Amino acid sequence: MLCNTLTLFREFGTQILINGVGRISAIAGAKQKDTDTGNAESGSLGEPPRLRTGEASKAAQVREDIDAMTSHDPILQISDVSLVFGGVRALTEVNFAVHPGELFSIIGPNGAGKTSMLNCISGRYHPTSGSVHFKGQDVTGLKPNDRAELGIGRTFQNLALFGHMSVLDNIMVGRHHLLKNNFLTGALYWFSGAQKEELEHRRFCEDVIDFLEISHIRKATAGTLSYGLRKRVELARAVALRPDLILLDEPMAGMNLEEKEDMARFIIDLNEEWGMTVVMIEHDMGVVMDISNRVMVLDFGRKIAEGTPDQVMANAHVRKAYLGEDSDGADDTDEKVA
Ligand SMILES: Nc1ncnc2c1ncn2[C@@H]1O[C@H](COP(=O)(O)OP(=O)(O)OP(=O)(O)O)[C@@H](O)[C@H]1O
Ligand SMILES: [Mg+2]
Repeated sequence: MLCNTLTLFREFGTQILINGVGRISAIAGAKQKDTDTGNAESGSLGEPPRLRTGEASKAAQVREDIDAMTSHDPILQISDVSLVFGGVRALTEVNFAVHPGELFSIIGPNGAGKTSMLNCISGRYHPTSGSVHFKGQDVTGLKPNDRAELGIGRTFQNLALFGHMSVLDNIMVGRHHLLKNNFLTGALYWFSGAQKEELEHRRFCEDVIDFLEISHIRKATAGTLSYGLRKRVELARAVALRPDLILLDEPMAGMNLEEKEDMARFIIDLNEEWGMTVVMIEHDMGVVMDISNRVMVLDFGRKIAEGTPDQVMANAHVRKAYLGEDSDGADDTDEKVA
């Protein structure tokens, strides 16, 4: 996997993996803007490309959009989070914030601490030190279910579906905690409103199924589906929670190009049309750089860079972590870019 990552990283700049995805041109514009203003991080290679007519205004618009986004109070604030397993330091004093409406990616080599970070956000792991704030509330000590109720949804690096259940049932399970009726009121199915509630839940699940284009497999047993479709069903289950913040751990792993394109389109639509803030871990650099507003890079459990895709790509420390390039002359501070 790391080899794939390195190859993609090298190819980045000439490669556009996703065609027809609206955000590509916008992000490309942001890249142009950064280089044009000399805003790129030390370690940038080669002459900055010149802007063509019209690109400057597009790039300025993208920059304004990002500025507007990050001017809001963060929906997620990670402060000095460290996580230790016995002798292994999975995370060391990591700080970052994600703002409402952002599509924020976390990248880094294998074992860098990306999944550990997501687990600290979802509540699966509790940081050894530091804090996690969601919508301004300290959720560091809360359990995963409580965080889900507050509006944090997630998918897993290794699929976590009920293989023997139908696609629809797997998705309905995602909404279980939203049901107000319990087993007592549920016993009075026709009188307590349980029937109406179930119909509404089912309707919403059907909307999610339509959106993710999996109607044709809604009755299929989840365990019999291809890997790519199971990943999509897992996303559907997380979306069914209607979270404000959705955490995606390698949503495109193991997919072919076509499946990746579809998944990237769904993630962009979730972000732009459904209004979900997205934190995504992904090894495919082409996708990450094309669709993210901002990117954070972890290496050996530490944050080594954070910024727009262009800033991160130009960062000497990132190039060293991925490509083994010499970072002599790079700024030694922890935070490298905006
Ligand atoms: N439950 C655990 N118990 C012990 N060590 C763990 C546990 N979870 C993670 N680690 C260790 O923490 C470090 C970071 O692991 P993590 O899974 O977060 O990396 P990652 O960046 O997600 O890697 P990958 O890209 O391979 O998924 C690794 O050294 C890993 O072995
Ligand atoms: Mg991982």
